Amino acid sequence: MDPWILVYDSYDPAEEGLREALCTLGNGYFATRGAAPEAWASNVHYPGTYLAGGYNRLKTEVAGRVVENEDLVNLPNWLIFRFKPEGGDWFNLMSAEIVAYRQELDMKQGVLSRMVRYRDRQKRETTVAFRRFVHMGSMHQAAQEITITPENWSGRITVHSGLDGTIVNSGVERYRQLNSKHLETLKQGVFGEDGIYLLVETTQSGLRIAQAARTILTAGTIVEGERRVVEQPGYILTEMVLDAVQNTPLRFEKLVTLFSSRDFAISEPLLDAIELSQRSGGFDDLLRSHVTEWDHLWDRCDINISANGCTQMILRLHIFHLLQTVSRNSIDLDTGVPARGWHGEAYRGHIFWDELFIFPYLNFRIPVLTRSLLLYRYRRLPAARVAARQAGLSGALFPWQSGSTGREETQHVHLNPKSGRWLPDNSHLQRHVNAAIAYNVWHYYDTTGDKEFMATYGIEMILEIARLYASLATWSERSGRHEILGVMGPDEYHDRYPGAEKPGLNNNAYTNVMAVWVLRTALKALDLLSPGRSRDLRESIGLDSAETERWQDVIRTMRVPFHDGDIISQFEEYETLAEFDWEGYRAKYGDIQRLDRILEAEGDTPNRYRVSKQADVIMLFYLFSAEELDELFTAMGYRFEPRMIHRNVEYYAARSSHGSTLSNVVHSWVMARSDRHRAWQVFRRALESDICDIQGGTTHEGIHLGAMAGSVDMIQRCSLGLRFIKGVLQFNPCIPDSIDSISMRIKHRGTWFDVVTTRDSLMISSGEGEPKPVRIRFADEEHTLEPGKSVSFRLENR
Ligand code: BGC
Repeated sequence: MDPWILVYDSYDPAEEGLREALCTLGNGYFATRGAAPEAWASNVHYPGTYLAGGYNRLKTEVAGRVVENEDLVNLPNWLIFRFKPEGGDWFNLMSAEIVAYRQELDMKQGVLSRMVRYRDRQKRETTVAFRRFVHMGSMHQAAQEITITPENWSGRITVHSGLDGTIVNSGVERYRQLNSKHLETLKQGVFGEDGIYLLVETTQSGLRIAQAARTILTAGTIVEGERRVVEQPGYILTEMVLDAVQNTPLRFEKLVTLFSSRDFAISEPLLDAIELSQRSGGFDDLLRSHVTEWDHLWDRCDINISANGCTQMILRLHIFHLLQTVSRNSIDLDTGVPARGWHGEAYRGHIFWDELFIFPYLNFRIPVLTRSLLLYRYRRLPAARVAARQAGLSGALFPWQSGSTGREETQHVHLNPKSGRWLPDNSHLQRHVNAAIAYNVWHYYDTTGDKEFMATYGIEMILEIARLYASLATWSERSGRHEILGVMGPDEYHDRYPGAEKPGLNNNAYTNVMAVWVLRTALKALDLLSPGRSRDLRESIGLDSAETERWQDVIRTMRVPFHDGDIISQFEEYETLAEFDWEGYRAKYGDIQRLDRILEAEGDTPNRYRVSKQADVIMLFYLFSAEELDELFTAMGYRFEPRMIHRNVEYYAARSSHGSTLSNVVHSWVMARSDRHRAWQVFRRALESDICDIQGGTTHEGIHLGAMAGSVDMIQRCSLGLRFIKGVLQFNPCIPDSIDSISMRIKHRGTWFDVVTTRDSLMISSGEGEPKPVRIRFADEEHTLEPGKSVSFRLENR
């Protein structure tokens, strides 16, 4: 198996949607699903092209109320290329007799290709192949090469190459009852000898998108006079009639440009799309420069492991999709990093807390991307301030789901496809997303040392989030502590107490501990500022010492519930919930990852049981070391002992259905050192999240970027034991049994390091970057690594 290539060697209609998502090509500016050029949207295929941050809102009446949703808009389909031999049918995989088939996603080059040899009803055999890429360097360009070879016949053939703006958003079945027509066509037409264009506009956000496509015949002859343009409103295509000759390939290049009205340094999207199209090089030229860009990226971003099977290939697939979702082309686009990539319409392209799992990989390689993604949040600080005021709170309340403006985009009702019922969606009560943002700001700084960013943007965000938590914390006479009431933790199976009218839970341990971490970090962050900037910032946001004193008080007295001795309760009274019949439900349903849907369809609710969709308390052990937790719990006046980690992990692992793909990442991380065998099993599940579609049919709607990036970070930080503590870069490798060696480059505080670890040695070489010595530690050994030098450590029994 080539660890750079994802291969499919037969056609499977049932898997086509999944493959389209996994074979999506993108460049951080736009992305196109790996759909076949001849395909229309159907229950098998779903062509989709999405602009990073290309949202639009539509209203629909659902269950007696009008709901408004902001969606990532499916843009005109530029892939369309269809053909029909004379007297036959338009080529269609569903009806053709397939003789040979191979589809390859070459991640090294960022190229998707497919070759099909088929036989038609007239027994004509034809081979049709395409290669396609979305240019990583020239962000407005994509190209497709198509060759058609008549194997045992000669004759006429008709070809269509088009742009289709009549498409709607219909990629997610459970959203299909909602309005879905986001585009209106403003203009369509032709340019030059071989060009067609389409200009569309989104109905509410007024985003204009222009696509221009040239279809160039580079081998073969068009029958005289038989090249023309065929049009319907919103749909335009070039039709060509050719004389095909047995064994002689006809070769076409379809060169596409895409611009939007939000682009920088353009005059008007359509003009620029046509202009670039006219001066562009051909397919081969473009391919060369595209591959060079990917070479440069892989040089920095690859993680090379020696392991059996397909682990290396899957790891690269995860890195590949991450780099296609955010790249240099995304900088300053004012987009966040979407939980499902720009690969499909699930979760509407929204931004969640999944950044928490995604940024560590970027921080250690291309931190300028994290910076840009954090600025997406900073620009929405005013909206978050308004949201806090409206909720009667202080500071900034960032939304659980964020889209264009930073208002709360979480849907009010969601459909349970199992029961067919629309249900209230309370997931916006996940206030912990704010802590994730503060955590991300701090860790970006910790890895890069970018004080300028902190002084200009970062610390202001952390302070406003600290304010939010301080205002959420209310004093309870009963417990003699501060409490946070009426929230949801990461575990979305619990949104209220059994039988309660009002949604929300009290003292979610994860939220409360994170709140304390944010407050402590806010106080620490203030010390990073120069006296002048500190004074200015305090003055601008009106922060005085009485307020920071209250923060100290909240830190000292925050409540964390416990039960059964030292089990941290997921929330207050968690222990009063019933235990769940795991065996019975597994026997009855098999796959019980989405217990919420199963129970609701039965007229029951997970709120009654000690079941969780995903890691919640365990998140604490994922984000913090035992020493850090000790500090946090001590600051609150609780005792924390490292042995609690194991007990709590066991307790909650036994009660989790892993209904979110993020859960496997977290569980395998927290078990990595105590139970390597189990950790590896769980890690395999995380690796398989998308490639095997472990949720049984969600990946075709979009990849799970948090799980993808989180699994890469498992190898990066967890396996290397990589941490930065008090100015020292620490390594403590513990590589999974099934991996023999790991090598990668990481960037830390401006310096690149090559790191190679095997079972018995660890070598770190300092490469280009800041010309300064760096302190490196392994176990008790500390070294000062001079620029350009290497250091090795012997590892035993790892
Ligand atoms: C998970 C959330 C996650 C979201 C987007 C949900 O299923 O429960 O934790 O943020 O998906 O990935």
